[in-house]
Parts: sequence; structure tokens; C-alpha cells
Amino acid sequence: MPAPIPPDHGLEPIETASVDELRALQLERLQWSVRHAYENVDHYRKAFEAAEVHPDDITELADLARLPFTAKATLRDNYPFGMFAVPRQQVIRVHASSGTTGRPTVVGYTRNDLDVWATVVARSIRAAGGRPGDILHNAYGYGLFTGGLGAHGGAEKLGCTVVPVSGGMTERQVQLINDFRPDLIMVTPSYMLNIIDEMERQGLDPRASSLRVGIFGAEPWTNEMRTSMEERLDMHAVDIYGLSEIIGPGVAQECVETKDGLHLWEDHFYPEIIDPLSGEVLPDGEEGELVLTSLTKEAMPVIRYRTRDLTRLLPGTARPMRRIEKITGRTDDMIILRGVNLFPTQIEELVLKIPALTPHFQCVLTRRGNMDELTVTVERAEHATAAEAAEAAVHVRQLVKRTIGVTVGVEVKEPFAIERSVGKMRRIVDNRPR
Ligand code: DLL
Repeated sequence: MPAPIPPDHGLEPIETASVDELRALQLERLQWSVRHAYENVDHYRKAFEAAEVHPDDITELADLARLPFTAKATLRDNYPFGMFAVPRQQVIRVHASSGTTGRPTVVGYTRNDLDVWATVVARSIRAAGGRPGDILHNAYGYGLFTGGLGAHGGAEKLGCTVVPVSGGMTERQVQLINDFRPDLIMVTPSYMLNIIDEMERQGLDPRASSLRVGIFGAEPWTNEMRTSMEERLDMHAVDIYGLSEIIGPGVAQECVETKDGLHLWEDHFYPEIIDPLSGEVLPDGEEGELVLTSLTKEAMPVIRYRTRDLTRLLPGTARPMRRIEKITGRTDDMIILRGVNLFPTQIEELVLKIPALTPHFQCVLTRRGNMDELTVTVERAEHATAAEAAEAAVHVRQLVKRTIGVTVGVEVKEPFAIERSVGKMRRIVDNRPR
């Protein structure tokens, strides 16, 4: 177990407020945000009118359910700046998500939005166990992606010494970690694995590094992965969640003292969980798609944005804000194999149980005749023999069959045979004919 982190005495007042105070603030902010969107964005005015609702109809938080959803397609249709609610001159930063097809999704920030973003990221780093004066190695990519600059702004606001490395050049990442002795690292969990491999390649003991806390996000990762990383690095591993459309990283953060899911910073973002098929709002505790509404964003308010991320809402613990459970996956990453739903995170859980395998894996989809087939490709551990690797393949097949209920192929590859990422790892390789 990594050494415990001393308690935090620097919480913001809202982090210790009562749930009633929080709800009152949310209603006030929701009313402002809905009106701001309606009055300043063509799309929202038309969409609200089509649904026959008006900002005046929002008299309690539950009224939010009367408003129409916003989808990623809406943002694309209004490319590039059509969703902005302030004159473009007041937008002092844009980011964009690459998007696998077609136009990217553009998001904008006023000066105040950037300040709110830095505030929620600073709050997140503190909840993760970071403190003013810590050295923070930031390996999230800088650029249009929100990870690098988002983490950067929050870390500076908290008063950390930021090392803005960005992603890539893994050898140099290791050298800087070794020489600068950072307390904190912010990086995708899959890229952290590459950094650990590189430490070992250079003959360094990852457990001996100066790192106390890793703040991992931007892609799904499991509690099994947490255990494995904490063991390999002798440091705390906590989850950070966010998406560009809502602000970037810092929408929700796991507290290091509880590691029981991510507190969603509800004073700025209002969560709902819906049935992804019917759109019906589900009660707290039920699993479904996370829908988020921005409460304070000026440049680009977002009303009922469908994230496609699957999770549940749970009551607050370390903070009064509700938690989201670790994200299982995205609706668009769900593999349907002979009627069985499956997510790469389920494969991750199983692969991590087997010492002869590494956590470097992919789910490769192919089609034979009318049948989809899934092959899990995974690298063997360097210490594993060929016989152990072959045995591990059989073992994974059996575990998948037993726990998920479907037959898959398993191919164990040589170390470093699977593509590595410097940011988000591509877990699904879809080789099915279009
Ligand atoms: O990934 C923002 C971010 C940067 C979050 C750094 C955390 C750390 P996008 O590129 O717009 O923004 O991608 C957002 O990534 O809808 C989820 O599907 C996924 N995602 C983000 N964080 C997590 C997480 C950034 N902690 C999309 N667990 C989201 C699982 C995550 N999935």
C-alpha cells in the first residue's frame, strides 16, 4: 500500500456545503444557463420552441427533463462557432476533439470559463492528494485536446510546479521523472503503462520513483488496473473524468482517501442518467448513459449533452456532490457478439488476473460469413515462457466464456508487438468489412 496522504485543509466552501445548499445553488445556476442558451444560441431557441418549453418553465431541477437533449451531431452541424453564446471576440481559447469521422467538435471558453476550468481541475488535483508546492509531471497531450492545457491550468492555479511534458518521447519522460522527482503525474493510464515499461527497460525500479499520486483519465480503466499500477509504482492511482464538450478534464474526480468512484463537481455540471434507448431519466443508482448540463459556462453552454458514457450516480461520500461509478465504456464502444454485450474494460479485468500476460491488449473484430468474431490480442509478460503464454491464452478464453458468456479467440503476442499509444489507447480494432 502506498503511504497515506495527509488530510486536506484547503477545501472550497462548496465542498463542505449541505446537499440542500448545493441543490439551491444548482437551481439558480440552471435557470441562468438555460436562459443564456435560449437567448444567445439559435439552435437552443429553435430546439426549445420545437419542444414547447421556455426558460420560464424551469422552476425546479426536475424540470430539466422537459428540455431536449443535445447530441454530438448538433455540435458538428453548427461547426465551427455556431454553438457560441457570446460574441466570438470574447472567446479567448478554442479546443477541438479530433472525431473519428468528418468535422471535429469545436468548443470555446471565455476568460471566466478558463478560470472555472482551472478551479475544477485544481479542486480535482487536491482531491487526488496533490498540494500547493508539489511538482506535477503533465503527460497529457498539449494542443487541441483538452487534456494537456486543462490539467496545466488547474495545476498552476493550485500552486504546483508544472512540468508541461505533453505525450510522447517516452525515454525523455522517464529521464525527467528521474531528475525532477515529481510528486504527481497526470497521464492516460495506457500511456502510464508505457512509461513503466520504459523505466524497467532503463533498469530503473518504478517503485523507487518519487511519484506519490497518478491522476489517470481520458479513457476507461478498471479497479484491477488501479491495483496493478499501485503495486508496480508504489503510488496512489485515482480517476479523473471529463470531456471537451462540457469543459475538458475536471468534470469529476475520485478522492484519494476513498477511491470509491468520482465526485462530479455538481456546482458547475448537472448530471442525469438516462436509458440510452428510450431517453427516459433513470433514478440514482441505476446504470445508463450520463447526460450533463453546464451550469456556469458562458462561451458555450451545453444543455442535456448525451455523453454516451455508461455509469451510475451514487450518493456523495468524501464530498457532498454525487459520485459517478468508474465508467464501464461508451455506448459506441459496446461490442455485440452473438447477442452478448461486451466492453473492453471487461477484458482488461480478466487479462490482469493472469501473471503471464501484460495489460497491453486489443479487441480485434472480424467477420466470417455472417458472423462477427472477436479476437483478444495481448502481449505476454517478458518473464513468461512460450508454454506459459499458450496456457494463458486458454485461460483467458475460459474466463471470458465463464464470466461474459461468449466464445472469443485469444492470441498471445510477443512483448511490444501491440501498437502503443501516447494518449488514448485504441482498444477496439474493427476489421469487419464495411
Ligand atoms: O478526454 C478530457 C480528459 C482529459 C479527461 C484528461 C480526463 C483526463 P475528450 O477527448 O473530449 O476529453 O474525450 C472525452 O473520453 O466522453 C469518455 O468517453 C472518455 N473519458 C474521459 N475520462 C474518462 C475516464 C477528454 N476517467 C471522452 N474514464 C469521454 C473513462 C473517460 N472514460
